[in-house]
Amino acid sequence: MVKICCIGAGYVGGPTMAIIALKCPSIEVAVVDISVSRITAWNSDQLPIYEPGLDGVVKQCRGKNLFFSTDVEKHVSEADIVFVSVNTPTKTRGLGAGKAADLTYWESAARMIADVSKSNKIVVEKSTVPVKTAEAIEKILTHNSKGIQFQILSNPEFLAEGTAIEDLLKPDRVLIGGRETPEGQKAIQALKDVYAQWVPEERILTTNLWSAELSKLAANAFLAQRISSVNAMSALCEATGANITQVSYAVGKDSRIGPKFLNASVGFGGSCFQKDILNLVYICECNGLPEVAEYWKQVIKINDYQKNRFVNRVVASMFNTVSNKKIAVLGFAFKKDTGDTRETPAIDVCKGLLGDKARLSIYDPQVTEDQIQRDLTMDKFTWDHPIHLQPMSPSTVKQVSVVWEAYEATKDAHGICILTEWDEFKTLDYKRIYDNMQKPAFVFDGRNVVDVEKLREIGFIVYSIGKPLDPWLKDMPAVA
Ligand code: UDX
Ligand code: UDX
Ligand code: ADP
Repeated sequence: MVKICCIGAGYVGGPTMAIIALKCPSIEVAVVDISVSRITAWNSDQLPIYEPGLDGVVKQCRGKNLFFSTDVEKHVSEADIVFVSVNTPTKTRGLGAGKAADLTYWESAARMIADVSKSNKIVVEKSTVPVKTAEAIEKILTHNSKGIQFQILSNPEFLAEGTAIEDLLKPDRVLIGGRETPEGQKAIQALKDVYAQWVPEERILTTNLWSAELSKLAANAFLAQRISSVNAMSALCEATGANITQVSYAVGKDSRIGPKFLNASVGFGGSCFQKDILNLVYICECNGLPEVAEYWKQVIKINDYQKNRFVNRVVASMFNTVSNKKIAVLGFAFKKDTGDTRETPAIDVCKGLLGDKARLSIYDPQVTEDQIQRDLTMDKFTWDHPIHLQPMSPSTVKQVSVVWEAYEATKDAHGICILTEWDEFKTLDYKRIYDNMQKPAFVFDGRNVVDVEKLREIGFIVYSIGKPLDPWLKDMPAVA
């Protein structure tokens, strides 16, 4: 029986291993983590992450061929294949601060693997890491190996949160990078055999180590670039009277461009896009390619611009001040169908509004009050300048309340900001909401989810990203 161990029971490791266990009954899969609370949650009815379809898969396999444990060393030493799926945040201090990936967790995992291994192993890089990490890890493993053979593979994950199970069951492609030596090829084949249990052969691509590592950064950079491109267009649409939905549709009809991932928004978030682009920028700079670095930096600059632009619209529309006005924030997660708030645009938008002394009433169906308070009080680390800004003061924290219902959040509010595209926001009773709000009542739709015409008929003043402006907004000062 092949034994697989995955170090790191997070958004990537958990769902990926659950699907491997589901599709490969003859493989024993152990997911290990140093966080006791995470492992306890994986072993309970309340999984630590919200992901449609995940509960069912875990219930089906847990205790049979899928195990969650804090006994990291035992499971690593017994495994034939070790996936490493630990966090790789952006470095906050020292060389490369603000851009380079922090490989502390990766390095400690690699040293531990070398330490406890008694048999040959395939070590698989699953977290996004800078190009050539595999080489560094290989050095740590071989210099501490005590004669044991390690083969290192790069097998980047392309799943998106909210659709992780679907993405894992029917991936566009699985990418496996390895050494071009006979041992390397054998290791690639061993991992290929695992995926081949459910993924068609032609979708399993094999490359050299560096191509696999770079492909992951490139794919995320291209995706983020599409959103920044459409968001840049949304500003121009507002200025000219064009409609971004119509423009995106027309552009996406070109089969060379394609229709997906062209939704204008208040900005992209999530744990990957910004981090991976910063990483790419850093690698370009280190390799003497400043023009290429500048090109990719612009994707993040436009994303920051889009979030600022949104806040400015809100404030400008409401007579240039939101001081002490109640603003309902609908949605805090970085996208729908997840409770994840990492790099969510809601953090910057909320901080922007709080900076203008607004009172916020926040509702998200999957994000807890604790998480929201933590996100809003945490030090903000700015990507361009590696300095920490002041965290929010206790008096500012009092300006934030978190509620468990959209109607409660919007009661007596002056304005509503929709920051996540949860389906339930499409079908709210907006007449009821309007009747219970201060007038004039504003809706700022950062995700293009509401029916603008219908809301205007009710009486709302509506701003929707990239859509022709409400006459009210046209009269307000220009937005930077
Ligand atoms: C992303 C990649 O899609 C995935 O392949 C990779 O493995 C990890 O990073 P994820 O961050 O989970 O996945 O979600 P994704 O669906 O890509 O959305 C990222 C952000 O872009 C979200 O904030 C989303 O709301 C935003 N977005 C996405 C838009 O603003 N417009 C779009 O058209 C699509
Ligand atoms: C372009 C648009 O494709 C077309 O829809 C529009 O109406 C006019 O402009 P054209 O300039 O004739 O058409 O040729 P196109 O095939 O788009 O190529 C433009 C340039 O891009 C060429 O120099 C081509 O060599 C280059 N190119 C194209 C690349 O370098 N790489 C590619 O992958 C594709
Ligand atoms: P991702 O989105 O990439 O899955 P997460 O932050 O959700 O990232 O998960 C990474 C997990 O890795 C965390 O639960 C963290 O506790 C775990 N982790 C980090 N370092 C180690 C380590 N040395 N050994 C075991 N687990 C680790």
